Amino acid sequence: MRCAGVRRRSRLWTLLYPLLCSVMLVACGGSETHLDDEAANKTAFDWALREGVPLPLEPAANPMTETKFQLGRHLFYDARLSGNGTQSCSSCHHQDKAFTDGLVVSVGSTGDSHPRNSQTLTNVAYNATYTWANPALITIEAQMHTPLFSEQPVEQGIDDRNRDAVLQRILDEPRYEALFAEAFPAQGSPVSFANIIDAIAVFVRGMTSFNAPFDRYQLGQRSALSASALRGQELFFSEALECFHCHGGYNFSDSTVDRTIAFVERPFHNTGLYNIGGSGDFPPDNQGVFEATGDPSDMGKFRAPTLRNIALTAPYMHDGSIATLEAVVEFYAAGGRNVASGPYAGDGRTNPFKDSFVSGFAITAQQQADLIAFLHSLTDESFVTSPRFSNPWE
Ligand code: HEC
Ligand code: HEC
Repeated sequence: MRCAGVRRRSRLWTLLYPLLCSVMLVACGGSETHLDDEAANKTAFDWALREGVPLPLEPAANPMTETKFQLGRHLFYDARLSGNGTQSCSSCHHQDKAFTDGLVVSVGSTGDSHPRNSQTLTNVAYNATYTWANPALITIEAQMHTPLFSEQPVEQGIDDRNRDAVLQRILDEPRYEALFAEAFPAQGSPVSFANIIDAIAVFVRGMTSFNAPFDRYQLGQRSALSASALRGQELFFSEALECFHCHGGYNFSDSTVDRTIAFVERPFHNTGLYNIGGSGDFPPDNQGVFEATGDPSDMGKFRAPTLRNIALTAPYMHDGSIATLEAVVEFYAAGGRNVASGPYAGDGRTNPFKDSFVSGFAITAQQQADLIAFLHSLTDESFVTSPRFSNPWE
């Protein structure tokens, strides 16, 4: 069920929209991942979600436990887990930046530049796909292979030559003995890459963030949002600006899955960032879903990311090519980006594969400030300061 089909007619609709959207998600759809009520609520993990937010899915092969979460937290922050011992997950995912790195594109352990901007780990448990544009990557466990083992670009750079040395470093650290034994009590020698991946995936899946001023407002605290943020909320959910079509629902993304969603959609969109030579092309190392499917109409299509904690995750877009939220709003107001010169020259506003919801709009300086105030109201301070997600080695 995609919320995009809902047409709102009044102010009331605007206010009720997020609620309605989640109700419809519950009510509609087929049977793709349907779970019965009992299974749907089964979890051994304290998710600590606010009222109104559904439980995320847990893979049957890797259920959530607190002991795996704590082991995963140690591994996430441990540079022993890289070929040359210099880089951990946290090198590119910093808690104070909602687990992004502040760079235009990330840099791996041996100095390789990644073609993409580091993604927030906010609420990744709810993502219907992983990374910016990969329809086939649908679990965190599967995604872990990329940062740990990929060769192009090298990130943590674990390969056949250093695998054993990396595991030995983990075995040599005294704190891990108890952590692995508690997380995988049934296994005699639990230090393996399979268990490392499962534990890190549990930690990352547990990174939920639903305690922003926006959430407090939803729970009835009327003072949580300023008058400006409330005006911005109305703009965000308006047919003029269209933001909510792609950044809708409780996680502000149309690519969301949870235990109440029966039919999972995995949409991707071309927002008109490029149009090289007028033929619709994107830069060669960043062509979105086209890279996975080879289908020309998938050129430049990327997942609409969550906008939760968005004020903390600059620069923006898959290639970090927009520096500020002000510039993002100007980009949407223009209906895409005209790249005037250089190798990527071309008018993204007329990209033939651009989504029709990115068609441009007029916006005053006050309205722009209001919209940005609303985006700031999605910042969850507790998420970026919570000891639960912080570096346990410090
Ligand atoms: C060299 C920097 C770097 C390192 C190290 C790194 N990441 Fe990432 N991470 C990125 C980038 C860049 C992306 C976007 C990748 C893409 O779209 O191809 C990403 C994407 C992700 C995603 C997908 C998020 C989403 O919304 O789909 C997850 C989850 C993730 N990383 C977790 C981790 C974990 C866990 C580790 C450690 C095992 C790790 N990363 C190590 C840079 C890094
Ligand atoms: C047609 C769907 C669609 C619409 C409509 C849309 N977005 Fe997006 N948005 C996306 C996609 C897809 C991306 C990622 C694009 C990329 O990186 O190439 C994105 C990226 C963003 C980002 C940067 C996210 C990040 O992590 O870097 C922000 C901020 C944003 N959108 C805000 C908005 C606002 C505000 C509106 C309304 C004015 C809006 N979007 C309308 C699909 C959409």
